[in-house]
Amino acid sequence: MTRIICVASGKGGVGKTTVVSNLAAALARFNKSVIAIDGNTTTSNLGIHLGISMYPTTIQDVLKGRANIRDAIYHHEDGFRVVPADVSMEKVMTPEAHKLLDVFYKLVGEADFVLIDAAAGLGKEASSSIKAADEMIIVTNPEIPALTDALKLTQMANRFETRNIGVVVNRIRKESHEFPINQIEDFLGAPMLGEIYEDCKVRKAISDKRPIVTHSPKAISAQQFMSIAARLIGEEYKVRTPRFNKLWGWLRR
Ligand SMILES: Nc1ncnc2c1ncn2[C@@H]1O[C@H](COP(=O)(O)OP(=O)(O)OP(=O)(O)O)[C@@H](O)[C@H]1O
Ligand SMILES: [Mg+2]
Repeated sequence: MTRIICVASGKGGVGKTTVVSNLAAALARFNKSVIAIDGNTTTSNLGIHLGISMYPTTIQDVLKGRANIRDAIYHHEDGFRVVPADVSMEKVMTPEAHKLLDVFYKLVGEADFVLIDAAAGLGKEASSSIKAADEMIIVTNPEIPALTDALKLTQMANRFETRNIGVVVNRIRKESHEFPINQIEDFLGAPMLGEIYEDCKVRKAISDKRPIVTHSPKAISAQQFMSIAARLIGEEYKVRTPRFNKLWGWLRR
């Protein structure tokens, strides 16, 4: 059965595209077939994260009825497929939910997972993706503004009957002013799917146009993405923390 999961956030810039590219790579490492779709047709950058931004056929062509979805699917070297969005100003558009639904349902049976990189916020672009998907993952940072916006997203998913499968808290620095991670489930009323630490290697991987999961598989953040992917498929994955990190964490307490 194909799982159609929208990766969304109330606040922009919290890490949705990073989560989509890495979950796609991580699920592929677990031998799952994945199609990652750029559902952000105004400020698209999934293709940019993956080093393939100049595609001839994109999601916009499919949504406008000018191309078949199969012509907009590209193979990534890390073992998953991508439906990119055009990054030019002329192709900016706000898709209707039913058009996205048509696209997603053409992919049923084509992959184990369809992951949608949604636009940020609660506007029509984001809500169309959430409405059209069956499940949603919320990405947030451990800060009150991002969490407050994430809470509204939870309510939106309930209204659309999209199953909220959990929260990924990204860019955790373990600083004392951060919102306590153990209170996020209660705050959002959604299960915790995983934590990703702030990691300069994630930024390096993005600049090298690869997911951290394949760029630096031993990095803690890469292992944390593997652990989230494992949870999605009901498997166990143990994150191994290098000794010096443990010592550093202890010194900072
Ligand atoms: N775990 C991390 N550690 C360090 N930097 C990170 C991490 N995750 C994301 N970033 C940084 O945050 C930036 C924004 O991430 P990303 O593009 O995934 O956010 P987004 O939610 O998709 O943004 P938008 O709302 O604009 O679509 C990245 O370019 C990267 O520099
Ligand atoms: Mg993005």
